[in-house]
Amino acid sequence: MTTAARLLRWYDCFGRDLPWRKTRDPYHILTSEIMLQQTQVDRVLFFYPPWLKRFPSWEKLAVAKDADAIRTWAGLGYNRRALMLKNIASWITHHETPKTEQEWRTLKGVGSYTAAAVMAFAFRQRTFPIDTVIRRVAGRLLLGIPFPQPTDDRRLQNAARSFLPTRGRFYDIPQALFDLGAAVCKKVPLCASCPLRQDCRSANRFLSGRVKIPKAMIQKPNERRPRNKPFPDRIYRGRILKVVREYPNGVMVRDLGQKIDPDFHPQQDDAWLSAMTTRLQHDGLLALRHGRASLP
Ligand code: ADE
Repeated sequence: MTTAARLLRWYDCFGRDLPWRKTRDPYHILTSEIMLQQTQVDRVLFFYPPWLKRFPSWEKLAVAKDADAIRTWAGLGYNRRALMLKNIASWITHHETPKTEQEWRTLKGVGSYTAAAVMAFAFRQRTFPIDTVIRRVAGRLLLGIPFPQPTDDRRLQNAARSFLPTRGRFYDIPQALFDLGAAVCKKVPLCASCPLRQDCRSANRFLSGRVKIPKAMIQKPNERRPRNKPFPDRIYRGRILKVVREYPNGVMVRDLGQKIDPDFHPQQDDAWLSAMTTRLQHDGLLALRHGRASLP
């Protein structure tokens, strides 16, 4: 049995039942992938159905108000993604659905992973999307690198060419890798209970304790983090939008500080608050008029 067949056999028994795996609609697939870009599956499962109910097609999303899209996205975080998706919907309704990875990549917010994911999951093209989970699992399995990096992607693409089945369910392979990555091939992997242990080029090294877990793996990526605050800026930006959503007429920026941070100190933190509101305005998520912040 090939490694891919073994993986699919495991996936058929233990794979997750996720709604975006039951559709081939490019709009639904892209929506799920954009939601999943920086958000956990459990959270996306909660927000994906109401989003599609509110905006069931490219056309419906394209004509939505920015404020509506932002409100419906609320809770997923990284709210810029809502507007990116809306801009894509607008482009597609005025042009046509892209037909190749290259065409998808020309859309703002669609990188090489997302373009390949849409082509694989919606159009069933034999392509291999590489995100952080797939890089980790497939890099260990096929390349024998315990902690693969983006610089390994070219080699990984080459290895994937012979790993992906040429016929049948090649489009399910990335989905199966996501699930193996979530359940077994975690950052610190559970090789002893892995269905691919016999095929994996890294398992023996992990199992014999010869792999040192790099510290960098455990640290957070380089987020913008204010010096005197416990959370990264994105948490406070999310709070700003949450407050603004609650006040239909907007909120004075000078009153926002206390509402997003109990330790807000006017002199010390004004510049920080102002930089965040300006950035939200620049991203199209917030309107600033006469010192008042509201949804755009
Ligand atoms: N992460 C990114 N895309 C995913 C998908 N389609 N299923 C599960 N996790 C994912």
